[in-house]
Amino acid sequence: MGKDDIPIIETRHLSRKVGEIYLVRDVSRRVFQGEIVAVVGQSGAGKSSLLRLLNRLDEPTEGTVLLDGVDYRTIPPRELRRRVGLIMQSAYLFPGTVGDNIRFGPRQRGEDLPRKDVKALLARVGLSDFSDRDVSELSGGEAQRVSLARALANRPEVLLLDEPTSSLDEGSKSDVEELLLEIIRGGGLTCILVTHDLAQAMRMASRVMLMEKGRIVQAGTVEEVLHADKIVP
Ligand SMILES: Nc1ncnc2c1ncn2[C@@H]1O[C@H](COP(=O)(O)OP(=O)(O)OP(=O)(O)O)[C@@H](O)[C@H]1O
Ligand SMILES: [Mg+2]
Repeated sequence: MGKDDIPIIETRHLSRKVGEIYLVRDVSRRVFQGEIVAVVGQSGAGKSSLLRLLNRLDEPTEGTVLLDGVDYRTIPPRELRRRVGLIMQSAYLFPGTVGDNIRFGPRQRGEDLPRKDVKALLARVGLSDFSDRDVSELSGGEAQRVSLARALANRPEVLLLDEPTSSLDEGSKSDVEELLLEIIRGGGLTCILVTHDLAQAMRMASRVMLMEKGRIVQAGTVEEVLHADKIVP
């Protein structure tokens, strides 16, 4: 349990309905500081839709999310997205240099990151000398590291990771996985990790939630959920 037992993220009847279909349906869950929670489920189950609701890229049609006990609809979206960082499957970097990408978030808040801070952030993801490199010249693993450093530049409390290693080969996958664990644990960050990869969920998460048709149909420890016969792919 986290500080004072207030969940960092609490969803209350969180739902998103498009037409007649619920992409996310009645999700009421709590995640505490420092936890890594994996969200698993088949393609189309609503995992990405859930993450997009959690930092309000999409609007709930019912229910809401509390961030540190505060209804997120009262938090300005830009602040919300600084505190709750989303990293997607393929790194969405802006054209330009690595440094431009890192400086972007702080600049939006009127903060100009000094060169040494950019370098320090890049060092955390193992890319110390990459500041002036053009993003079009990066490998997939490097680009994913830059998007992590860019998220960290915002000093988030929560990281939402949507299949962060699925586009990487085995070698860079385990590197990025280790890096993520180091950063999450080292910074006391809270993390919600969407993954198709059950072995990855086992390596990284302490709790797992299984989604089906927009609902969370099972939740528990990694062993409880991943060993239930329901989830055998
Ligand atoms: N904007 C939208 N309007 C209507 N339907 C949508 C929209 N976005 C997603 N969907 C549908 O909602 C369902 C859930 O999609 P979502 O992307 O959340 O699934 P997912 O669990 O992330 O799948 P995957 O593992 O393939 O990434 C899918 O059936 C998808 O086609
Ligand atoms: Mg998805």
